[in-house]
Formats: sequence, structure tokens, C-alpha cells
Amino acid sequence: MSKPRVFSGVQPTGNIHLGNYLGALKQFVELQNTADCIYCIVDMHAITVPQDPEELKSHILDVAALYMAVGLDPEKSILFVQSEVSGHAELSWILTCNSYTGELSRMTQFKAKNKGQESAPAGLFTYPILMAADILLYDTNIVPVGNDQKQHIELCRDIALRINHKYGEDTLVVPEGQYMKEGARIMALDDPTNKMSKSAENEMSRISLLDEPAKIKKAIMRATTDSDAVIKYDPENKPGISNLLTIYGALSDTPIEEIEKKFDGAGYGDLKKELVTVVTESLEPIRERFNSIRYSSELTDILKDGAAKANAIAEPILERVQSRFGLGL
Ligand code: TYM
Repeated sequence: MSKPRVFSGVQPTGNIHLGNYLGALKQFVELQNTADCIYCIVDMHAITVPQDPEELKSHILDVAALYMAVGLDPEKSILFVQSEVSGHAELSWILTCNSYTGELSRMTQFKAKNKGQESAPAGLFTYPILMAADILLYDTNIVPVGNDQKQHIELCRDIALRINHKYGEDTLVVPEGQYMKEGARIMALDDPTNKMSKSAENEMSRISLLDEPAKIKKAIMRATTDSDAVIKYDPENKPGISNLLTIYGALSDTPIEEIEKKFDGAGYGDLKKELVTVVTESLEPIRERFNSIRYSSELTDILKDGAAKANAIAEPILERVQSRFGLGL
């Protein structure tokens, strides 16, 4: 039996943080040995909000180097930049013609970002369609992502099913989302009712994979907790402590009950201090590998090679879809 096809992507809009790592990248690495994996740096998604061109270029290479620093191996997985494969934009248009404005306006991420303004870029509205094109362009079976992308994955499935119903059941492969048991939603350190995000203004709300030990310490020691001083996993009533326990458990591969037992009777400060060590020790090798890869001449060659391989898979799939629609000659 052939291996399942996996596709996922990360936006090059800033440094990858612990949420991206524990919700998505950790799965990317694990899947490399059992699946046929394609991982993308989605630069066209990034321009749905204005980007400085120089910074965007640099962030694309940062994400590529981080992909490899966390353990993605270009010998095993295809690593490439979205805009290097034109099929993404082409399939996106076909899907746009088969999507409804109603379903797009129900996307919570769109509602959060456009804030009801009429002047919001149309790309923010059609963002999930481009994401569906990314996935469907490769006959993807599994999409490893964090929980925040669940609604977008469901929309992708709806569009694929709708097209298959009209143009033939084997037009598109209908994918499944895959989410981590722990780590699917890492919360902001300063406000554990919001997800950790690359765009939040407060630097102390997140830990980026390239943060220095002093910053890691500051962010964790300042993390918002509650006042009842019991170390117990209870996301509803104790979101701050539960988030710290989740990070601790996911990074050290320790079940949360074991961590609760270890800190039974201890104070929040004790847990935070030890978490600083766990995070610093987990991120140090990633930072070292990043530094050796990021400025090597090999990096762009790997991405070019990845784009050629991705294109070779995408082309016949795009042609199949175009021909079902009667496009071209
Ligand atoms: P992006 O760049 O925002 O995030 C990259 C991945 O990290 C996950 N993630 C989180 N997981 C746990 N806790 C968090 N706080 C957290 N924040 C982010 C995201 O779920 C994602 O898996 N739309 C996507 C990029 C994309 C994509 C695709 C993904 C474009 N096309 C096709 C999969 C397939 C995004 O904005 O991810």
C-alpha cells in the first residue's frame, strides 16, 4: 500500500513560536518516517496583510531554516516556498468559483482580522480558499495543524466534496485534519484565554523558538496564573497553570498527571522555574542548528529542489481538475 500524503504549511510572518512547534511542527517531524510529506512556507498567505518585502524574504528563509532545525529532513520531506509553484494560485481560482461568500464570512479568523471594515483586503476573505488549494493540489490525505485551523480544514473538505459531487467523485482527494492530543492550542502567556500568536503586540505573550534564555525566563516567570496556588490541570478554571503544564508535558514528553504529582504541594514559582529549564534545554539545540543552516548556501538550493519536486506532483493533479471543468483546449 502506498504511503499517505501529508501536506501542511506555516506563514513566514515572524518567528515560529512554541504554539506553532507543539501544535504543528512536532507532528511534521513525526510524520516524516511513515508518510509522504510536503511542507510549505506559505508566503502568498502572508501578503493578505501588508508585509515589508525585505523582511518577508528574510522570514521565508528563517522558516525554512527552522523547519530543518526542528528536524525536517529534505531527504525525507519536500520543503518549498508556495509562490514558487504556480499551481497554488491556479487551483485557488477554480475553488473560488465553487465557494460561497456566506461560508467565507463565517470563518472566525476572518471575522477577527477584518474587524468589520469594508476596506479589509479581499485576500483576507479568500485566504481559506488558497489554503484549500494548497492542500487539494497534492491529493493530500492528512493535514497536521493546530486547533485554530480546524474551521479552515472543514471548509476545504466541504469545497472538495461539493466539487466531487458535481464533477466526479475522483476529481479531488478529501483530506482529514490531524491535531495533537496535547499542544493543539497553546495559549498566550500573558493572557491564557487567547492563543499564543506571532502577531500579538506583547513579546512576553509568546516564546519564539529562537528566543535567548533571558527572554524565555522573563516570559515564563511573568506568565499569568491564578491565585489559588494549586498545580492542577483544569483549563476552564485555571487556564494559565494548565497552559504551563501543557507546554511542560509536550516538551518533556511527560504525562500531565505525572507533572501534577511531581509538583504536589509546591508553589507556582517552583513549576515556573523548572519549566524555564525544560524550555531552555529544548530550544537550545534548535537555535544552534538554525544558526548553522540559516546562512548556508545550501538552503536556497534545497528550496528550489523542493519546488521542482512539488511542481512535478502538482501539475498532473491540476491538469486533471482543469480537464474536469472543461478549461483550456
Ligand atoms: P500559521 O502560520 O498561523 O501557524 C502554523 C501552524 O501552527 C499552528 N498554531 C498553533 N498550534 C497550537 N497553538 C497555537 N497557539 C498555535 N498557533 C498556530 C497552526 O494551527 C498551524 O498549523 N493558515 C495556516 C497556514 C496554511 C496551511 C495551509 C496549513 C496555509 N496553507 C495548508 C496547512 C495546510 C496558518 O496561518 O498557520
